[in-house]
Amino acid sequence: MKKHILVVPGDGIGQEVTAVGKKVLERIAEKFNHEFTYDEALIGHVAIEATGNPLPDETLEKMRASDAVLFGAVGHPKYDNDPSAKVRPEQGLLKMRKELGLYANLRPIKLFDELLSASSIKPEILKGSDILFFRELTGDIYFGEKGRKDDGKTAYDIAQYSVYEVERIARKAFDAAMTRGKKLMSVDKANVLETSRLWREVVQRVAHEYPEVQVEHQFVDSAAMLLIKDPRRFDVVVTANLFGDILTDEASQIAGSMGMLASASIGDGTGVYEPIHGSAHDITGKGVANPMASVLSAALLLDISFGLKEEAEAVINAVDQVLKSGIRTRDIADASTPSDMIRGTEATGEALLKYL
Ligand code: NAD
Ligand code: IPM
Ligand code: MN
Repeated sequence: MKKHILVVPGDGIGQEVTAVGKKVLERIAEKFNHEFTYDEALIGHVAIEATGNPLPDETLEKMRASDAVLFGAVGHPKYDNDPSAKVRPEQGLLKMRKELGLYANLRPIKLFDELLSASSIKPEILKGSDILFFRELTGDIYFGEKGRKDDGKTAYDIAQYSVYEVERIARKAFDAAMTRGKKLMSVDKANVLETSRLWREVVQRVAHEYPEVQVEHQFVDSAAMLLIKDPRRFDVVVTANLFGDILTDEASQIAGSMGMLASASIGDGTGVYEPIHGSAHDITGKGVANPMASVLSAALLLDISFGLKEEAEAVINAVDQVLKSGIRTRDIADASTPSDMIRGTEATGEALLKYL
């Protein structure tokens, strides 16, 4: 198979982990006789430094022209500590999602058995957890009108959803539920928010098209509690942009670490595959970031954008084998991990390649 992949590492550990994700794709192409070509482009802080723009037109054009994008992360402490900065790395990420129509963000919460003790949640509560989040990605409070009034003394962000926007993400989630445990939880705040009442109305209507799927509606506060209390109760979850952002960082603790969670951002055109984590300033440049989220994002890319199931399985299997061998990055090590089994980003990447 011939495919063109755009690699967009972005900022901080995005650079470090995406290098490993790319190496895994290269190895897969070699092993399965595919011809993958690559190009790179700038986004985020590195793009602002080079061009003044967090998403240069050139990057967007390259994204549109490629078969899939392997994305890292954006963000820099300079902006996090300066709320008044007008041009910010995150604007590049949000514009990319909007411009490419990436309305569905799939975030699988996959717990590898070897990491049962890496979580702060009790193993007997966790064992067997397997959740697939559908986070709506191009609407909600992220993309509504925002601004200041009263001489800057009041700020607002407007949350907005249309029937069409809820319908299309709901259908994606119901379709996935049909291929899994036929259970879907829709998470909203319909007891307070009008957008959530529209959300619930639409999900209830779409549910009629999927009579086999058992649907549950939960308020977001309760869902946040249930995730930790009883993660196995969850199968497919569909939720709005902001709730999905927060709940999936919480759910990363079911998988052991932010460094384990991959995602697929899909819509009508090119798909973007990205870890759920950010640029992690606290560990940038130390060579200790867990590359598995990028590697598992590469597996989602092979599966979803290229339909290469066997290749995607081979990547997941390599992750499993590395974990079985006892190798751990710092974030997933626990008290029982011998210090000589703790590896950095590159060494973990090399270990992965041995199993491919
Ligand atoms: P973060 O996800 O970058 O980091 C949160 C914590 O998880 C940190 O302690 C970090 O060290 C740890 N962590 C994250 N990924 C890891 C990995 N692969 N291996 C080991 N540990 C890992 O979130 P944050 O600290 O709130 O944000 C940092 C910056 O990243 C901010 O500028 C933020 O805007 C940006 N951000 C970007 C994205 C994205 O590009 N998709 C996502 C989240 C945050
Ligand atoms: C994510 C991030 C982004 C989001 C930020 C950096 C804009 O947290 O990809 O989860 O909130 O969507
Ligand atoms: Mn997030």
